[in-house]
Amino acid sequence: MLYPDTTDGAKEDQGGLVTITSARAKPQDLLTWYDRHHRELPWRVSPGARKNGAAPDPYRVWLSEIMLQQTTVAAVTKYFLAFTRRWPTVHALAAAPDEEILAAWAGLGYYARARNLIKCARMVSSELGGVFPDTEAALQELPGIGPYTSAAIAAIAFDRKATVLDGNVERVMSRLHAETAPLPGSKETLRGYAAGLTPAQRSGDYAQAVMDLGATICTPRKPACVICPWRPACDGHATGIADTLPRKAPKAAKPVRRGVAWVVTDPKGAIMTVRRPDKGLLGGMLAVPSSEWSEGPVDAKPPMPGEYASIGEVRHTFTHFHLILEVRQLALRATRDEFIDLPVAAGQMPTVFSKVCKLARL
Ligand code: ADE
Repeated sequence: MLYPDTTDGAKEDQGGLVTITSARAKPQDLLTWYDRHHRELPWRVSPGARKNGAAPDPYRVWLSEIMLQQTTVAAVTKYFLAFTRRWPTVHALAAAPDEEILAAWAGLGYYARARNLIKCARMVSSELGGVFPDTEAALQELPGIGPYTSAAIAAIAFDRKATVLDGNVERVMSRLHAETAPLPGSKETLRGYAAGLTPAQRSGDYAQAVMDLGATICTPRKPACVICPWRPACDGHATGIADTLPRKAPKAAKPVRRGVAWVVTDPKGAIMTVRRPDKGLLGGMLAVPSSEWSEGPVDAKPPMPGEYASIGEVRHTFTHFHLILEVRQLALRATRDEFIDLPVAAGQMPTVFSKVCKLARL
């Protein structure tokens, strides 16, 4: 919703992107707030250090943005520190074996991201001499980098005037402009608002400032409007509806798939593992054997014959479906050299299978 008294509604077309210019909110007010109140994050060059000439390392910016796709800052921090300690450059990461990278990634979820991370590191290392491209268009040519991530990298690593639009930014823009049309339909309008505010100077700090505002003040519930640097400019606050925004169209319910997972153990506490096929969900990851996962009946053929005992269920939610796995266990009498010690195996598996291991703990 555009309020004629608070927003001039001017629209400019910048290369296909409609920008909607707000008359009142000033990027500079947010940058001044960011200078004092920014979060210290391991992948971030603080505004003070930037002013003193420190430049962000595009490798670290890229790595953090891939990790932060659909994962929280709190969950990413320890993975980011572990990766950069072990592989401090894109060449080092590119030279590492797939299994080591995938094992270090275990627990972050969305394994297609890890596979694209490996592909991207190798392309940048071998085809681009280790130099990341500095435009949104060129970044999007690389595996795993879409519109959001290319804008974030272009802004944060190269100070390009790029419009970064994630859930946090959508929330801030919808409130600032009291946009009551529901997401996802309102997304392009919100992008227009975000583009209209993005400054040509300090674009990287500005992108991170909006993220910080969304994460610490303009939070989904109980926003801290009294300490918000944009409160005087916020139509959502002025009209008393900020905490009800953004509105969202009702989502279709996720389907439920079912399957069976088999835990086969030996007397030393080692477990049978499989490597999942490269293509498809959790591709290339270490797992316990499982049946297909289906909304209909499944063909539950165990990995070896024996008297299995049903020991319970594991539930896990993926982007597009809920999964319920029945876990069946078989304890062998003889040791098996090819089995892997259970805690070691669980540590290398994606979350759904480490949940299965936890249920079967010996
Ligand atoms: N979420 C996505 N990218 C981020 C970043 N660079 N800093 C903080 N949160 C983020």
